Amino acid sequence: MSTQTETTTIPSEIEQLRKDFPALHQTHPNGKPVVYLDSGASAQKPQCVIDTVSECYSDYYANAYRGVYYFGARIDEGIERSRELVRELINARSTSEVIFTSGTTMSINMVARGLGEGFFTKDDEIILNVLEHHANIVPWQMIARQTGAKIKYLPLTEDGRLDLDELPELLTEKTKLLSVTGMSNVLGSIPNLEQIISACHQNGTLVLVDGAQLVPHASVDVQTLDIDFLTFSGHKLYGPSGVGVLYGKETLLDKMEPMLGGGHMIDQVFQDKSTWAELPAKFEAGTLPIAPIIGLGKAIEYVRKIGFEAIETYEHNLLKYAHDQLQKIPGLTILGPGTEHKGAIASFTIDNLHPHDIADWLDRSGVAVRAGHHCTMPLHDHLGIHASTRASFAFYNNFSDIDALCEGLKYTLEKHRLL
Ligand SMILES: Cc1ncc(COP(=O)(O)O)c(C=O)c1O
Repeated sequence: MSTQTETTTIPSEIEQLRKDFPALHQTHPNGKPVVYLDSGASAQKPQCVIDTVSECYSDYYANAYRGVYYFGARIDEGIERSRELVRELINARSTSEVIFTSGTTMSINMVARGLGEGFFTKDDEIILNVLEHHANIVPWQMIARQTGAKIKYLPLTEDGRLDLDELPELLTEKTKLLSVTGMSNVLGSIPNLEQIISACHQNGTLVLVDGAQLVPHASVDVQTLDIDFLTFSGHKLYGPSGVGVLYGKETLLDKMEPMLGGGHMIDQVFQDKSTWAELPAKFEAGTLPIAPIIGLGKAIEYVRKIGFEAIETYEHNLLKYAHDQLQKIPGLTILGPGTEHKGAIASFTIDNLHPHDIADWLDRSGVAVRAGHHCTMPLHDHLGIHASTRASFAFYNNFSDIDALCEGLKYTLEKHRLL
């Protein structure tokens, strides 16, 4: 057992909050308590979110925007309440700018396709970087292939942050869009969005922020940062899976084409042509993920009650503790920058151990981490490795979880005769 109690105070509220998450109190089939360190992939759900989804199905379920009867009206009200809660969360100007999607991947694809051929030509450029999740690379490659636009990559510093000194050089009159993560899902690096957006806007370049990892950990204000597009997923924000958000400035969304056509997104349909509904319906074709949207609203209320300031401070302490303890494990290298430049993610390699073996042996200790390329093959190529092991934290983790991780790693090393 480590000496964490001597160096760090565990806020008593965290122990109280942990009680809200039933999954955290389960026992692994091997009898060990479950230690969940994979919130970067998907977060556990508080009981209030589970109850809200369950009540929606059991008490008043109907399709959205179709029924004029009691159930239908309650569903519509629930969805619009969630939309308002998202608007408040990110400080959008209007709920017209909040579009419900199936997740970050869908949201980014909708922007890439929605801007599409009318926006990108063969002479245009898109700036990405190797920190990005495949969801923020592949849709741009697809649109580049379709339009002939070129993709350029902003380099990284040696410690795995975006090298913003190189940005002015990369931005040209041809740069139409820069798409950037708010927080790397592997290195945890948090780019300086203010600096990036200001440089891009001075150049007339639009900015999409992939907030899949950032939004669950920090307050993001789209107006203060002047973000053009923001995308995130409900399931990483303690909400249900199957729902995500696309925020876009109204002026931009108005100019974009919907990626999907069908019910609800139309104004008029004739035999040979159709016209589109107003925002946000224009981008919400078909039946929405109704119960997940209502559950997401509950998750937002729950997280905001805790407050992002408290979450950031606590998670930063957890991260510092994790770095300190992991660095004591023989042969372990933490990937990416120091804790001052990153969010609550610690990815690492261990000499002579494959990440999949590490994750498998940690599971025997009840500790859930992720192993692989984490949908960031270009980043792993850049780092010269095929895979890594990732422990990602949420406010419901405590210092004992990190002790369990380190104990599990020592056990793994012992079993492989490396300790
Ligand atoms: C940074 C980042 N972007 C995008 C995604 C894709 O999110 P989703 O699978 O919810 O669409 C993820 C998921 O891990 C992510 O971490």
